[in-house]
Amino acid sequence: MENWVSRLFELPALTKWGHGQSVEDANLGLGWIYYGLARLIRPTTAVVIGSYRGFAPLVLGKALTDNRNGGQVIFIDPSMIDDFWKDPGNVSAHFARFGVTNVKHFLMTTQQFAQTADYRSLSQLGLVFVDGYHSEEQARFDYETFQHLLSPDGVVLLHDTANCEVSRVYGHDRAYQRRVKVFVDQLQQDATLQVFDLPFDQGVTLVRKRSAGPE
Ligand SMILES: C[S@@+](CC[C@H](N)C(=O)[O-])C[C@H]1O[C@@H](n2cnc3c(N)ncnc32)[C@H](O)[C@@H]1O
Repeated sequence: MENWVSRLFELPALTKWGHGQSVEDANLGLGWIYYGLARLIRPTTAVVIGSYRGFAPLVLGKALTDNRNGGQVIFIDPSMIDDFWKDPGNVSAHFARFGVTNVKHFLMTTQQFAQTADYRSLSQLGLVFVDGYHSEEQARFDYETFQHLLSPDGVVLLHDTANCEVSRVYGHDRAYQRRVKVFVDQLQQDATLQVFDLPFDQGVTLVRKRSAGPE
């Protein structure tokens, strides 16, 4: 695994973006939580919404590969920062470079994906990783689009929940305040949920239904 992490970190963009990685000691940071949960839950399907250069889909794709049960990652990203995800051939080659071949990319927003037959075919999701547009409204939409499709032991992870800083990732003229934390603070009030913050680096929050449990 350590070799795989070192190979991943050859691409500088995969060493940043708020997951608490450190290159010197081949440390995935929060990525170990993503990887560990995926190995524990063994999802047949995981969903990732949004990624700059693929850190979360790569880590989850690797975990599902290592599970050896044919698991697949559904990755939704309309490539709003730049053109990185726009060419299907380049997208497959990018994941394959790291030995990950079980990520299926959809070049669209969550709103568009929710209108597709692929969305309607989903069930029993073991993991849903939310890291798309970080407004409160979009975080709620992303969460609500998938939460009812979780398997009994499924978990939702929401990234960028440590603070509400201003982001200029879509350009200086499109600066906006990240408000996923505000949405997560509302989930904390829901007695049917277990909500657990890990406020390291940009932070991730784990959400699980209280009545849920392994089958
Ligand atoms: C800034 S990146 C997240 C960075 C992340 N922390 C990482 O490690 O890569 C957010 C991504 O969400 C995508 N995105 C924006 N709006 C979206 C939407 N409505 N549905 C799905 N993805 C969206 C963008 O294209 C972008 O690639």
